[in-house]
Amino acid sequence: MTERVVLAYSGGLDTSVAIGWIAEETGAEVVAVAIDCGQGGEDLDVVRQRAVDCGAVEAVVADAKDEFAGEYCIPAIQANALYMDRYPLVSALSRPLIVKHLAEAARYHNATMVGHGCTGKGNDQVRFEAGLAALFPELRVVAPVRDSGMTRDKAIAFAEEKGLPIDVTKKSPYSIDQNLFGRAVETGFLEDIWNGPIEDVYAYTDNPAEQREPDELVVTFTAGVPTAVDGKELSPLQVVEEMNRRAGAQGVGRIDMVEDRLVGIKSREVYEAPGAMALIAAHQELEAVTVERDLARFKRGVDQRWGELVYDGLWFSPLKQSLDVFVGEANRHVTGDIRMVLHGGRAVVTGRRSEASLYDYDLATYDTGDTYDQSMARGFIDVWSMPAKISNLRDRKHS
Ligand code: ARG
Repeated sequence: MTERVVLAYSGGLDTSVAIGWIAEETGAEVVAVAIDCGQGGEDLDVVRQRAVDCGAVEAVVADAKDEFAGEYCIPAIQANALYMDRYPLVSALSRPLIVKHLAEAARYHNATMVGHGCTGKGNDQVRFEAGLAALFPELRVVAPVRDSGMTRDKAIAFAEEKGLPIDVTKKSPYSIDQNLFGRAVETGFLEDIWNGPIEDVYAYTDNPAEQREPDELVVTFTAGVPTAVDGKELSPLQVVEEMNRRAGAQGVGRIDMVEDRLVGIKSREVYEAPGAMALIAAHQELEAVTVERDLARFKRGVDQRWGELVYDGLWFSPLKQSLDVFVGEANRHVTGDIRMVLHGGRAVVTGRRSEASLYDYDLATYDTGDTYDQSMARGFIDVWSMPAKISNLRDRKHS
């Protein structure tokens, strides 16, 4: 029986050419798998037809937007996930979702191989292959761009020679990856890290420098999950879409950074993630009100590690799974409302309200009627400072 390859298919030039390229290279049949994680653009039926026209024996297309929002974006919000304190993991979150669908398609279509169009310089090759190693380790990997010289020029020549139905002239100066949670832009003039991004780079956000009225809104969370905006109940997908729209209109969530890739390269990345950045800011603030101090301190370390594991392609790893349990548990009381003002590229929290609040007005107030017994503080500080005091005495004796 002819072997089969499941190919992570985007509908673009590289993966369209990869269908025929892989078929020629391996003698196998290619099953194209295209996953919609909210990247917008083309209709899935158009993508499916193109895969077939390019020689795929089957084309699996799936609208996975709700799954992506609920099972990938929401956990990232609960973990306040920002790689290097800045990047909300946009691409890193979608890869494990695609991997899951590839593994399912591979089982269904009896594939023995999996293909992707990644280069050898990025994180995404690692995320695909490490993810598949965790879900379906028997699959062999074919990566024509990385391993068999499928350069851009050769891909165009291949497409022309075979008469593939793809527009090879539509070449963007940037490498772009986008989904529901945000947009990543690399290469072109951005590779000179002294060059500032121009307006042309952005698509999810309006220019924050333009004059406009501020937008005030209230986000409601239930156990760390954003469940409503301005009192209107929304699904995870709808919340992220609504926040992308409103925060994007105020220029919130533009990020220009030099990033440490897993493969050791530093790279210039421009991101825009309006909904993600506003929702993480709101979530963090509600945690500040509802999570006990020690748990909150510990969680900050867990959050950072969670983000690094996801960035590094270890979504399905045992450590990441265990941290998920911790993050979920730590979010148990993160329920309530956050009011924020979106304006001039910033999402600023201006109010918090929660039934599960640990903020006690009577303890905190400096007005009369407070319930905090200040005389307790003195004894506490004596005991707290004891080790420092003892070492000071020792140091003076021995110096
Ligand atoms: N550097 C980011 C990451 O590793 C974005 C990668 C985007 N991919 C792309 N093909 N432009 O998550």
